[in-house]
Parts: sequence; C-alpha cells; structure tokens
Amino acid sequence: MKPFKVTSTFEVYESIEELPEVIRDLMKQAMRARDNAYAPYSQFKVGAALVLNNNEVVTGSNQENASYPSGLCAERTAIYYAGAKYPEAQINYMVVSAKSMKHKVDAPVPPCGACRQALVEYEVKQKSEIPVFFMGESGQVMKANSIKDLLPLMFDKTAL
Ligand code: THU
Repeated sequence: MKPFKVTSTFEVYESIEELPEVIRDLMKQAMRARDNAYAPYSQFKVGAALVLNNNEVVTGSNQENASYPSGLCAERTAIYYAGAKYPEAQINYMVVSAKSMKHKVDAPVPPCGACRQALVEYEVKQKSEIPVFFMGESGQVMKANSIKDLLPLMFDKTAL
C-alpha cells in the first residue's frame, strides 16, 4: 500500500465587490435567477449563471417537486439548458448563489455531489476547465478553477 494524495486549491474573495467586473455582473444575474427558484419545500433558493463562448448567458434555478427526488438543482437546470440550447458551445464560467428564506447564508455554498458529477461531464466534453464561483446570499465567494477540484477521482467515460 502507498498513500495517494489529492489536493485542491481554491481562491477566496472577501465579497462580491472583490470579483472581476464580468464575474460580478454574472453573479448578479445568478442572484436574479435565484429569485425565480421554485423552492416551496426547502425554502432554499439557488441561482446559477453560465457564460458561453458564444457570449450567451444561460441561467437556472432550483425546481422542487412534491415528490422530493424529482426536483432539480440550479446548477443542473442551467447546464442542461445550455447543453440543450447551445450543444456546440463551450462554457467559460459558472457562478452560483444560494439564499435561505429561513436564515442568512453568508458562507459559500458549493454545488452538491450530484451536480459535480453532472458538471464534470461537460468539462470532459469540451476538453477545457469550467471555473465555478460560488457564494451564499452575501459574504465570501469561492472559486474552483475546475470541476475536478470539486470532484477528485471523478467518474467519467474513460472508465466505460
Ligand atoms: N440545491 C441546489 O439547487 N444546488 C445545490 O448545489 C445544493 C442544493 C437545491 C436543491 C433543493 O431544491 C434545495 O437546494 C435544498 O437542498
């Protein structure tokens, strides 16, 4: 046996104000999308925005269901919409913001495990990394330079 070490490095911005202007604007679009979330069960609203290499911006929000597992996270709503509408486009960036209707979320909210698996598929497909910026309602913003940093030892087509 020998240890196999995996490390990921993230960037932390103290607030949305510290972000590059283009990312800050994208985050504001994610926040607007977040307001459109349908989250009557969790009261936890998430918005995602993607900028594509054709300059289109695609947004998504979480969509819940009385049959809880049938709901979908904001990140997957957005990336599946981008894949469906612009199948040839590459994703330059993804940004995510989450807000609870019950309490203040001021720590960064990273994509859930299922979303990480869904997102890494598109990184493999486009053969380039998709940086993700994620935050709560306010406070620090974290940047992952690649989905692979969020999902080390990912499962992808090379295993099939
Ligand atoms: N949610 C997202 O939209 N993205 C995540 O990465 C984490 C969770 C949603 C799913 C559900 O509608 C609500 O937040 C509470 O889990």
